[in-house]
Amino acid sequence: MRGLDLILKKRNGESLSPDEINFLVKQFNEGVIPDYQMAALLMAVFFQGFSNKETNALTTALASSGEMLDFSFLSDIVVDKHSSGGVGDKVTLILAPLVAAAGIPVAKLSGRSLDFTGGTIDKLESIPGFNANLSIDRFMELVSEHGLAIMAQTDRITPAEGKLYALRDATGTVDDISLIAASIMSKKIAAGASAILLDVKTGSGAFMQSKDEAFHLAETMIRIGKDLGKRTVALITDMNQPLGFAVGNALEVKEAVHVLQGEGPRDVEQLCLILGGYLMALTGKVRNAEEGQVQLSRLINSGAAYEKFKQLVVAQGGDKAFLEDLSLLPKASYIQEIHAGKDGYLVEIDAKRVGKAVSLLGAGRASKEQQIDHAVGLVLNHKVGDSIIKGETLAFIHSNNQENFGTALKELSNAFSIKAEAVEIPPLVYGVVPPFPS
Ligand code: URA
Repeated sequence: MRGLDLILKKRNGESLSPDEINFLVKQFNEGVIPDYQMAALLMAVFFQGFSNKETNALTTALASSGEMLDFSFLSDIVVDKHSSGGVGDKVTLILAPLVAAAGIPVAKLSGRSLDFTGGTIDKLESIPGFNANLSIDRFMELVSEHGLAIMAQTDRITPAEGKLYALRDATGTVDDISLIAASIMSKKIAAGASAILLDVKTGSGAFMQSKDEAFHLAETMIRIGKDLGKRTVALITDMNQPLGFAVGNALEVKEAVHVLQGEGPRDVEQLCLILGGYLMALTGKVRNAEEGQVQLSRLINSGAAYEKFKQLVVAQGGDKAFLEDLSLLPKASYIQEIHAGKDGYLVEIDAKRVGKAVSLLGAGRASKEQQIDHAVGLVLNHKVGDSIIKGETLAFIHSNNQENFGTALKELSNAFSIKAEAVEIPPLVYGVVPPFPS
């Protein structure tokens, strides 16, 4: 087999066999197939497409390019969740301990911030001492001991996926549904959970801007999960405005703790309960998602979910004093307000612009090496649908230097839209794939 022949085959619209795809991924991972040939293949895939069989083969090849975790030694079904990325998306911080508090082991590999979307690991690292760089053995030990661990992605799991993603990023081949689905599902499959919940976000602050694209991605991932023997469910959820009020690392931890204490924003709590309900139903521990939601809601009210979060933080080296007194978390030096220019109804808070602005403040990174400022971010004072009086505060900007503040403010100047007519408040969830229970 030769890389060049396979590139030509795909370029000419023929299908590649699982063996051929496996060969390409293996040789690329070992550095035998150079970047320029893999880039040509990616572009051929982008234009010619991958069949279901080819997408499954790519997923399997990427998943098996590194260590594959195996939790079969546990008697319970281990679960995992994935979000396609959003602004103010602190769901993992809440959902993981919540579901673990229900006695369902959660093993979660998470990423860092990417472009305008935040990363769970950066958020957790705003808690002093928290260590997400666990060894695989320690990660599995924690899942076994506490029923919960959250670890940063490592090169030992799906290394070929990391290399391929970097190449896609540099060659304009990221936004192909088959490639995205294989990329996401390979990481989930290698991470060892048997039940996977996919939160596919759609809207201005999401990777998938249109609902059609989001459903297509969800359906593709669900099919891969089914074909590869994983219980999988996907919810298509709104990301037109930020989730909750807080955007930024420590600010989101604070909001997540409020939700775990039963005092958080309603949209965040509702979404976590809905997603958690489906995850519980997927494991078979409850008859349906509604029953799961009721159980999880009790675990928030009893304080069990909050205790589980503290246990997670302590087990991974964090100082729980910062959760018990949230004012100890990193704080920005300046808090400035954005005011409404007119009366009316808030009809849009462009999540992408908010995400970009918060990233410019220092909460995200433009390159992998960049240091994050955990303290900075934005706290909304209003959400879409609220009636607004001219001069009212729309949001508070938390910054640590005036130059960043000016740049972020410029980005935010068009993020808020106020109109005379009210709009319908967008739903939290647009749909479930497959229609549930299936
Ligand atoms: N997120 C991923 O993990 N992979 C992609 O290809 C796109 C988004």
